[in-house]
Amino acid sequence: MPCQKDQELKKHVEYAKQFTKEGKVATYIPELGKANPNDLSIAIHFPDGRCISAGDITKKFTLQSISKVVALAYVLMDRGFDYVFERVGMEPTGDPFNSIVRLETMDVAKPLNPMINAGALVVTHMIDGETVEERLQKLLTFTRELAGNEQIDFNPSVAASEFETANLNRALCYFLKQHQIITEDVETLIDLYTKQCAIEMNCLDLARIGLVFAMNGVDPETGKQIMPDGVARICKTFMVTCGMYNASGEFAIKIGIPAKSGVSGGIMGAVPGRLGIGIFGPALDEKGNSVAGMKLLEHLSKSYQLSMF
Ligand code: DON
Repeated sequence: MPCQKDQELKKHVEYAKQFTKEGKVATYIPELGKANPNDLSIAIHFPDGRCISAGDITKKFTLQSISKVVALAYVLMDRGFDYVFERVGMEPTGDPFNSIVRLETMDVAKPLNPMINAGALVVTHMIDGETVEERLQKLLTFTRELAGNEQIDFNPSVAASEFETANLNRALCYFLKQHQIITEDVETLIDLYTKQCAIEMNCLDLARIGLVFAMNGVDPETGKQIMPDGVARICKTFMVTCGMYNASGEFAIKIGIPAKSGVSGGIMGAVPGRLGIGIFGPALDEKGNSVAGMKLLEHLSKSYQLSMF
């Protein structure tokens, strides 16, 4: 069923769009700096197959940190709960996404959670396979199934742009390697991680993935259980506690929707049992979250009582 343009949703987007002026597009990955800071679009998928949208939903963007949720679901399915959580923790940090500080101050260098970069690098390290290509294909196959879109791929220019500049992530990897949390070659891991972060889609695809998480891992179109409900539940819990980094507490209070942001300006939302949300608004606040996307979610949450609390 094609996604319907929705007049009411359009009004919410127009309201939130004024806040794009308060943010800036990410430039530390040079390719992301090409985005238009004024963009704001949204799609919402419902379990009965309905879909509504506002703004230019054909625009593609890379997942960046949103890919951390997909990669976590994949490794939980492939490796199991114990294997994964022996190597990465479950606690929020209240630190910026790329912070290195806790690794040294903790007794064990194990990263505190899979949503910060240190933890996400450990998760990507757990994607099994002989080559970067094979491991990436496994993640892409899973992503395509979640989105119900076989066309999804990664953007090589964004991946290359991040690979060239990812020195802080390299530093995290070397620290983790020193402590045997990761064991592979750092350049190989950064190659896979930057391609993972560069997986590209539009708001429709992202909302569809959000809906699968919202429906406890069931594809609402086919009824297929794509991931066990326990895996979907773990991912949604991390989205609540760590999904918006050091803005997660305020986000839970003001908005109350399990959500994950990326520095491309994407936000995936999963309202349990009700709907999946995909937002693209590349102007970011100082914490790396879409500034207008957050305002839009806050507005929607209040207007339609979407908070789960
Ligand atoms: O590792 C990085 O820095 C990026 N590939 C992803 C960071 C990100 O999206 C943080 N989110 N707000």
